[in-house]
Amino acid sequence: MSQKKLVVAWEEIKSVTDLIPIEAKLLKLAKSSLKNAYAPYSNFQVGAAILLENGAMIGGSNQENAAYPMCLCAERVALSAVASQHPKLIIKAMAITVKAPNQIIGQPAMPCGSCRQALCEKEYQQKQPIRLVIRGEEGPIYCFQSAKEILPFSFDASFL
Ligand code: THU
Repeated sequence: MSQKKLVVAWEEIKSVTDLIPIEAKLLKLAKSSLKNAYAPYSNFQVGAAILLENGAMIGGSNQENAAYPMCLCAERVALSAVASQHPKLIIKAMAITVKAPNQIIGQPAMPCGSCRQALCEKEYQQKQPIRLVIRGEEGPIYCFQSAKEILPFSFDASFL
């Protein structure tokens, strides 16, 4: 038997003013995108914004449904918009932010497991990492070099 350990790497950035301008802009789009959330059930708004290789930015927000399992996460809404409108372009980064109804979220709200899997699928497809820039409503920003960083031991097409 041998014990193994996993190390997760990320950058913690104190405030938006410390981000590089393109990532500050991307986070700003994520923030404005969450205003388009349709979240009458959870009242929890999520905004995601994707930076493409040509510099274009595409936003997405969570879209809920009275049939709860149909709820769509912001991250996958944004990924699907890119897949539909710009299928050939590489995704360089995604910014994510949230707004909760009854508390100020002061730390990054991390993508759910399904969104991590969807992000990893895109990385596998495009053979390039997607940088993640994640912030709560306020507080520090966590940056990950790749979605794989937050989904260790991931399942991908190499197993099939
Ligand atoms: N949600 C997202 O949009 N992204 C995530 O990664 C986690 C959760 C949404 C789904 C639902 O509309 C609301 O947040 C509460 O779970």
